[in-house]
Amino acid sequence: MTILGIETSCDETGVALTQDKRVLCNSIYSQQIHSRFGGVVPEIASREHTERLLMMTRGILEEKKMSVEDIDGIAVTYGPGLLCSLLIGLNFSKSLSYSLGVPFVGVNHLEAHIYSPFINIEEYSYPFLSLLVSGGHTSIVKVNDFRDYEVLGSTLDDACGESFDKVSKLIGLGYPGGPAIEKFAGEGEENEFDFPVPDPEGLDFSYSGLKTSVLYTYLGLPQEERIYRVSDIAASFQRSAIESLLIKLKRAVRMTGIKRVSVSGGVSANKLLRKRLEELDIEWIAPDKEFTVDNGAMVGFLGYKLFKEGIRSELGLKADSRLSLN
Ligand code: KG4
Ligand code: ZN
Repeated sequence: MTILGIETSCDETGVALTQDKRVLCNSIYSQQIHSRFGGVVPEIASREHTERLLMMTRGILEEKKMSVEDIDGIAVTYGPGLLCSLLIGLNFSKSLSYSLGVPFVGVNHLEAHIYSPFINIEEYSYPFLSLLVSGGHTSIVKVNDFRDYEVLGSTLDDACGESFDKVSKLIGLGYPGGPAIEKFAGEGEENEFDFPVPDPEGLDFSYSGLKTSVLYTYLGLPQEERIYRVSDIAASFQRSAIESLLIKLKRAVRMTGIKRVSVSGGVSANKLLRKRLEELDIEWIAPDKEFTVDNGAMVGFLGYKLFKEGIRSELGLKADSRLSLN
């Protein structure tokens, strides 16, 4: 089954062609325009999606020497995310589905991330744990079966990726913050600043205290020191942020006795996180880098699994900016 996967939940326009469980083509346009504002501007994001979507879809079909007639189904993210961005992908998919006479299925963005590590490889058997770390979400989920989830812990305030973005903006490294912080951290000393490692009770996460600690430390530095200590701040912040994820993950493994862990979302690209996961006594998997950030391939991949279960969406499906896993 050839599926067109569409992702427009935030500031990445993602378009992909998948065939059963294989990814044929995955095209991602990361909207750089937001960097000048230090964060995503929803109205601009949706305009960018509108401008790109058709062109990118044509592009991947041409690349694979295929036409719209070859598409058997369409999978599209319908939530959670920015409402005006979701609507662009959803309406595009509905129109295409209607005009081509092929089915479409709405995909939960969080579920698409959860299964994304299994693109191109053998899936874990159930149950497994999922550490979902992105710009909008930070959760540990027990996946009991296909689409049967128990959210064991979530963030009480900022998401992990969001804290990378905010700290990056504060210390002048721009948006998106994750890759920028990681790059500068590579030149810095991670024990130079003693930022707290957030560990609220149980399996919940919290990043606002760490972010505030970085803020006051940074503002407390003499002006001339702020610039040349940026790498040390980035490295020390990254160490605390990643350490917090590991504390929670180790606790979840201990509490559930489950040692198979899928790690996904934009932050799963982080090299320090991957290095630290390697040191744990667990079996873990994270997606190839191109499937860590928001992308159409993970939507098409999950779409195939849904179609196989006989799941389809009606044209009346509404975008749901607050869609959860429950
Ligand atoms: O999954 P994603 O593309 O979007 C959401 O669903 O939110 O994740 C984007 C987030 C951003 O906050 C970005 O700063 C973060 O992932 N990110 C990283 C890295 N690459 C992206 N965070 C830490 N290290 C990275 N290498
Ligand atoms: Zn995402």
